[in-house]
Amino acid sequence: MVISKKIKAYDLVIFGTKGDLARKKLLPSLYRLEKLNKLYKDTRIIGIGRANWKNKEYKKIAKQSIYNYNNKILEKNIWKKFSSRLHFLNIDVNDINNFHKLKKLCNKKKRIIIHYFAMPPSIFGIICKGLGKFNLNSNKNRIIIEKPIGTSLKTSKKINNTIGKYFLEKQIFRIDHYLGKETILNLIALKFSNSHFFTNWNKNTVDHIQITVSEEVGIEGRWSYFDKVGQMKDMIQNHLLQILSIIAMSPPDNLKANNIQLEKLKVLKSLSIINRDNINEFTVRGQYTSGLLKNLKVPGYINEIGSIKNRNTETFVAIKVNIKNSQWNNVPFYLRTGKRMPIKKSEIVIFFKPNYLNLFKKNNENKLLNKMVINLQPNEGIDIYINNKVPGLDSNFKLKQIKFKFSYQKEFKNLYLYDAYERLLLESSLGNQSLFVSKKEIEASWKWVDSIIKSWKKKKSKVEFYKAGTWGPESSNYLLKKDGRSWNKI
Ligand code: BG6
Repeated sequence: MVISKKIKAYDLVIFGTKGDLARKKLLPSLYRLEKLNKLYKDTRIIGIGRANWKNKEYKKIAKQSIYNYNNKILEKNIWKKFSSRLHFLNIDVNDINNFHKLKKLCNKKKRIIIHYFAMPPSIFGIICKGLGKFNLNSNKNRIIIEKPIGTSLKTSKKINNTIGKYFLEKQIFRIDHYLGKETILNLIALKFSNSHFFTNWNKNTVDHIQITVSEEVGIEGRWSYFDKVGQMKDMIQNHLLQILSIIAMSPPDNLKANNIQLEKLKVLKSLSIINRDNINEFTVRGQYTSGLLKNLKVPGYINEIGSIKNRNTETFVAIKVNIKNSQWNNVPFYLRTGKRMPIKKSEIVIFFKPNYLNLFKKNNENKLLNKMVINLQPNEGIDIYINNKVPGLDSNFKLKQIKFKFSYQKEFKNLYLYDAYERLLLESSLGNQSLFVSKKEIEASWKWVDSIIKSWKKKKSKVEFYKAGTWGPESSNYLLKKDGRSWNKI
């Protein structure tokens, strides 16, 4: 993507510029965009916070954050250019009269303003009010918000409605950073531009699909946030359901945002509801205890610093999901995600149905299902497994699975792989919403997730323990075993 001359200059305002998101993700990504020459030449980055800083102090903090979260690399000439964009405004958002300072700074240049709310949703309302009071929400301006967008359907509606009083849907960019990952985007190309996949991407050919997002990290000091949400709200409600909706969606009329969002929404609305009657059959909750991760001893969830003992919060979830539509009826999607698992890995595995001809049954007791493994991260790429005759004179057709490998690193070695935030910041500056999540999608996801959480509560579900450094509780294996399947070996 090249910054076109047509784009009007914009200013990026970061509310919560001292927080983790801004320091760890936004500022380093913006710095890298600078290096890649992707920032519009007049764009200013305006940090908002309560600190009594002058620009100079803000720049100092920003410099340190970029250095820390950009692999300890900071190039002098890039920093010089980048830092000239940085401005700091001392605004306590709780006093909306303070927003006149922002108005004054922005009025000097007539530009699109993109407001990034890098603050908890409980503050969104008051920020919107302040922006509204000084007409900083006019039609050409945009806002970017990010999860948690609520903790239930009810609370997410409240947030969306509050924002909706000040901004139109076309001005609101809801980030799910997984949608900014190159490999997730490639799913659309893979499915819809290859006829042999497109025609076989349905219940006639697909046996089942597995989505795994495993993490090595534990709670990393985010105790006060994580303990209230657990892995279900932290990962399934957003990232895993977004991945699922992209894999399962039908072709959109075109690649415009509203058409892509509409197709994803149809999938989310077709998810079979999991309720009290089938909760134990379809879901598994786990929590890690102390264990060894890469040969290092790590504490269990309830022993982490800041923890409260006897918590029943899940750090692992596995779910069997059914989609009730003509394309996917009876094709289970198995999702699993957890913290403190053996390695960080996100993959989608599509298992194709066995060939019904029994020609090769003799000498090949195990069902050799064709499978396609889409490595989302790390080692981005695709592996396709097909059956091949083991060479030799005997005519018994002994088969072996052979792997065809496509690796981004090898195939596109001279191309830069944009990181999710770099891409999403660029797309929002271009006003393109296709990689962002609509209000309706968020609400459909919450509706489905709410029913699971409610059922866990009703059933007084207890987490099952798993040792840090393992693939989750035994029931996770059983979830597939009872269907005659097993998790793809990672
Ligand atoms: C975030 C979750 O949304 O995604 C974190 O809040 C999680 O708990 C993270 O660790 C994983 O993202 P990634 O890009 O590292 O896979």
